[in-house]
Amino acid sequence: MAQLVVTDMEGNTRTVEAETGISLMEIIRDNDFDDMAALCGGCCSCATCHIYVDEAWASKLGSVDDDEDELLSMAESRQENSRLSCQIEMTDELDGMPVTIAPGE
Ligand code: FES
Repeated sequence: MAQLVVTDMEGNTRTVEAETGISLMEIIRDNDFDDMAALCGGCCSCATCHIYVDEAWASKLGSVDDDEDELLSMAESRQENSRLSCQIEMTDELDGMPVTIAPGE
């Protein structure tokens, strides 16, 4: 099974099993990272699943669509490598990707 390397807001890093075909948000939430609120459940309407993706992996991800971009634009903690984890599907190509949970707003 693929793996995801997740760093929480305190800087603690854990490598977790990552089922393909589901979102990064679901993987992070289901592995008991309390920092991931994911309040809308993946409907792209809350931005509480905000993560930073390691820059070296950015080219493996799909582009940010308009809805995701609009939500991220309201986040004070947005960076160049910001994404909403509910909008990224885990694939074998993303095996080993490091992500960091962004600070809440
Ligand atoms: S869980 Fe709400 S936007 Fe991702």
